[in-house]
Amino acid sequence: MQRITVIPGDGIGPEVVEPALALVQALGLDVTLDVLDHVNADAYLRNGSALDAADLDRIRSSDATLLGAVGDPRLGDTGYVRSVLTTLRTELDLYANYRPARLWHDRLSPLRDRARRAIDCVIVRENTEGLYSGIGGSTRTASPEEVAVDLDVNTHRGVTRIIDFAFSVARRSVCLVDKANAVRHGGQLWQRCWREAVERHPHVATSHLYADAAALRLATDPTAFDVIVTNNSHGDILSDLTAALAGGLGMAASANLNATTRQGLFEPVHGSAPDIAGRQVANPFAAILSTALLVEHLGHRDAAEAVRRAVAAAVGARRVTPDLGGRLSTKEAGAAVLAEVC
Ligand code: IPM
Ligand code: MG
Repeated sequence: MQRITVIPGDGIGPEVVEPALALVQALGLDVTLDVLDHVNADAYLRNGSALDAADLDRIRSSDATLLGAVGDPRLGDTGYVRSVLTTLRTELDLYANYRPARLWHDRLSPLRDRARRAIDCVIVRENTEGLYSGIGGSTRTASPEEVAVDLDVNTHRGVTRIIDFAFSVARRSVCLVDKANAVRHGGQLWQRCWREAVERHPHVATSHLYADAAALRLATDPTAFDVIVTNNSHGDILSDLTAALAGGLGMAASANLNATTRQGLFEPVHGSAPDIAGRQVANPFAAILSTALLVEHLGHRDAAEAVRRAVAAAVGARRVTPDLGGRLSTKEAGAAVLAEVC
């Protein structure tokens, strides 16, 4: 039997996780759920930490983890989110952030040009290095002379493994996105690792774009892309852009993976959305599609496909939440998908 750890988290996290878990139960998979209800902002406010060593052990020893969302307006600085999300990504060495963007219905795209709406691409984001390294500091803090530095860490090992991961999930092509024309040292490292990787994968079509040009191209013709591989911060930004092109954050799923250890943390791309939390208006589809990635990772490919077909059918029938032009609540939209699966 496989064990899934669940961190509902904050804000809309618990609301969107609930229908996703109902779906897991309905799929009849041989899995148990281990819900870490206590990992949230309240715990952090009370104890100064939300995720302890015992939680990490439970997560590490499980087969996969589903996370709703972390973040709380009462916690202004980055400490809390880093202590959960960034810690999980780095502690479990989940170096590959896999963020697919697929347009489930033409109606959901903001693109004017119909011919450009066949969106089915993936952002493969390096997830443990770059500007998220946490290395840096500031001097003359809170004065007009303040200087703040965050180091952009790029290692040959880290860059090579994320580029190889991108090739391993490519269906048609891989596009490297960087800023090597302006960011010198890291840029050169990525370029070198890229050339080495391209030689190792001669049968996959490849291209290269600078990050600004990639944003422009994505907004005008996302059909040009299959897999985009890029660093942590470019991947963060571009995956919100691809989400917007494919129906918004309410539809955007993601997986944080380590291809060697097979550890995986699955989470919707959206955050805790405190402004709409507790009102049953959040779209559960990003959490449900993240759950599809999770069950696929656990080897249940047919179940994952069934969930995706069910989401497509629910969207097609406008059985959706208000962000997608529907009138259903979070629970009702989840039930609409469930009804399609069962
Ligand atoms: C994401 C989020 C996080 C990130 C934040 C909440 C730290 O935006 O998963 O894309 O930047 O990685
Ligand atoms: Mg983001």
